[in-house]
Amino acid sequence: MKYLAIVGTNADVSTNRMLLQFMQKHFASDAEIELFEIKALPAFYELDDESIPESVVAISEKILKADGVIMATPEYDHAIPAVLKSALEWISYTSQALTDKPVLIVGASHGMLGSSRAQAHLRQILDSPELAARIMPSSEFLLGKSQEAFDYAGKLKYPEKIAELNEVFREFILFTEMTIKLLEEKAAVKKDKKFTWEA
Ligand SMILES: Cc1cc2nc3c(=O)[nH]c(=O)nc-3n(C[C@H](O)[C@H](O)[C@H](O)COP(=O)(O)O)c2cc1C
Repeated sequence: MKYLAIVGTNADVSTNRMLLQFMQKHFASDAEIELFEIKALPAFYELDDESIPESVVAISEKILKADGVIMATPEYDHAIPAVLKSALEWISYTSQALTDKPVLIVGASHGMLGSSRAQAHLRQILDSPELAARIMPSSEFLLGKSQEAFDYAGKLKYPEKIAELNEVFREFILFTEMTIKLLEEKAAVKKDKKFTWEA
């Protein structure tokens, strides 16, 4: 599996980025995980005559080529960061590259709750008609107290959290496989379907 892991922040130092970097190494034998930074994307605006910004084209192409997407979100004022919302607005307005794409949401926060409200917010946004991602249901990975959660080498310190992440990721690979199969079958049915006037 090839996954694109979107770092949901423009901060230079981020425990969400550390979480994705840990996942990249930890799951290296199960999947190829490429990190993507949204820092270069401009704040969203509706285009007039100008062309789509290159950085927006780049994220869309990466998403389209990936089997699935992992998003790590911080929490600001009970919501996802504005930069992440803006990136999603660009995708929704231009390529709609997230449509039917399997998505795993994870997140880290400095407080106890591990970005739970931001993750619920992100789930709701990704379910909007122009984004329409296939979000993995009934699962969340919340990393609270994230500033103390990694050692000097970037390894997640808590064995119970690693076990939880292993389970979530194993499920995500299965979810990705099932979603790909479902969409292939859906496309085949659509191709063979005759309209009533053709019968
Ligand atoms: C303005 C502001 C608002 C914040 N609001 C929340 C919040 O609503 N919930 C929360 O858990 N943490 C909040 N935090 C702290 C965040 O946990 C933290 O900045 C971020 O999630 C950590 O992600 P990062 O390490 O990837 O930057 C806030 C921080 C700032 C500066």
